[in-house]
Amino acid sequence: MVGPDNQQPRTYGRRKGRPLRPRRARLLQSLAPALATPREPFDPRVLARHARQVWLEAGFGAGEHLIGQAGRHPDALLLGAEPFVNGFATCLAHLETAGQTNVRLHHGDVRDLMGWLPAASLERLFVLFPDPWPKTRHKKRRLIEEGFIAEAARLLKPGGRLRFATDWADYADWSLERFLRAPEFRWTAEAADDWRRPPDDHITTRYEAKRLGDCTPIWLEFERV
Ligand SMILES: C[S@@+](CC[C@H](N)C(=O)[O-])C[C@H]1O[C@@H](n2cnc3c(N)ncnc32)[C@H](O)[C@@H]1O
Repeated sequence: MVGPDNQQPRTYGRRKGRPLRPRRARLLQSLAPALATPREPFDPRVLARHARQVWLEAGFGAGEHLIGQAGRHPDALLLGAEPFVNGFATCLAHLETAGQTNVRLHHGDVRDLMGWLPAASLERLFVLFPDPWPKTRHKKRRLIEEGFIAEAARLLKPGGRLRFATDWADYADWSLERFLRAPEFRWTAEAADDWRRPPDDHITTRYEAKRLGDCTPIWLEFERV
């Protein structure tokens, strides 16, 4: 199956759910263009010249984590990508309420946004509870694969960090196996609690709290060497 934005397998379930509430539909017309990342190669620092760091969240869902981190880190520019319009519009509504100015959004596939960013432009990259695709015939749709890991390695600065979380045991094994094969990344865990417990700076989302997977969440943090 080919995604609409590129020739890679589609990693998300759907682009649209229920009809949007009027405020959210309005925000798609008014706020979204003002916060949109360019759809061509660009330097993220041009979007917020004061920003000391640039972070990216892949598949931010309704944006609770993205906006929460933006609030805690006003000196960082937070980029996020999400193709599901209902989540994207919910994020806009939260953003309007929170009045956060250090967030920029791509309504679409994160792999397109990553392709437009320059090498070594990110300090942090978050992949939190990505669609698990547990059935064998669907595993090729998982976001974490060799090409994604190579792009993440290109974008993260040395010392930059990628955080992955899932509550599907097989997806945790799958991802760890692939990251451990990538010489650009070092798994930072030193004790079991490092992958069993949410990191201190994590912000839980409503999706995560539903615990839809088959295990308690597993947290994998990798450093770009
Ligand atoms: C299971 S949800 C988790 C949402 C959020 N990270 C959270 O923890 O609440 C996974 C999200 O990733 C999005 N997604 C899947 N593939 C994506 C891709 N290639 N680019 C951007 N987002 C993607 C889906 O649309 C979905 O909203």
